[in-house]
Amino acid sequence: MFCGKGGVGKTTSAAATALHYAMNGDKTLIISTDFTPSLRDIFEIDSLEKPARVTDNLFLDEISYDAVKVLWDRKFGPQVYDLFSTFVDIDYQDFVGYVATMLPGIRDEFMVDYIREISESGEYQRVVWDTAPAGQTLGLLRMPSMMNHHLKPAFKIYSSLKSTHNLKRSVLGVIKDWEQLSEKDMAFLRQEVQFNLVTIAEALAVRQLRDIFDEFGSYGLGINHIVINQVIEDADSPFLRRKAQLQQKYLAEVENGYGTGCTRVPLFPYEIKGLERLKEVERKLFGS
Ligand SMILES: Nc1ncnc2c1ncn2[C@@H]1O[C@H](COP(=O)(O)OP(=O)(O)O)[C@@H](O)[C@H]1O
Ligand SMILES: [Mg+2]
Repeated sequence: MFCGKGGVGKTTSAAATALHYAMNGDKTLIISTDFTPSLRDIFEIDSLEKPARVTDNLFLDEISYDAVKVLWDRKFGPQVYDLFSTFVDIDYQDFVGYVATMLPGIRDEFMVDYIREISESGEYQRVVWDTAPAGQTLGLLRMPSMMNHHLKPAFKIYSSLKSTHNLKRSVLGVIKDWEQLSEKDMAFLRQEVQFNLVTIAEALAVRQLRDIFDEFGSYGLGINHIVINQVIEDADSPFLRRKAQLQQKYLAEVENGYGTGCTRVPLFPYEIKGLERLKEVERKLFGS
């Protein structure tokens, strides 16, 4: 998974990484959970197929919040609605609308669940996950453990409900299912996902790193690698020399401050689009 602040190069790094695995012969999926995804743009793919084929073993998909709502509805909607409608008089569309607006966390949880299912399906040898800017991504990671936290009192409330035995049993059954799902998703994040934090050598971005590390830590998750993007290498003008010098301090801070492996990617003098350009980034990320 690639995370970090907006515009630092998450999608570019994720795309180059997916290309790396695919070139090594692994069947690879690159999937974005950003609501304003740009993967198709970077790979110059017009096909709207889901997933779209980029090369022989590289596939691309993008998943929007609305798509997640539809998937959630399909997987859990009827089951939860059946229960709900035994004690509340509500029609189905209102119910799904309620769930989507009042409980937005459910969509975050479901997004993680969706990635876990793809990963566990065995369809791909590598899944590269490109995410939205840090705030939204942290919300995503927070959800599974938060859901679990919220479900604990729900269990108590429903088990003391003065209702018919059967209804009580099925409500408790659904809550149990959801607890297990949350635990599975959290275990997936802890055990199966490698987290790559992308940053640039600038004050604001570097200042946010500590907070991101701390937030990850609070869910028992760790950052496995840092990509420092847009590093100025060949400074051939006074302007670039000054920029490069400014970067030095932040480079040292990131590379010495976190005990995490770091990779520098240079600032290229062009837009990174298409396979040839992405291969240049790939070489910087993985060495020749
Ligand atoms: N090393 C780089 N050199 C030059 N341009 C870059 C570099 N990395 C990213 N870019 C450009 O910066 C913009 C934002 O990159 P992107 O990967 O979409 O960021 P994010 O996904 O973090 O929002 C894109 O136009 C991309 O081409
Ligand atoms: Mg992006």
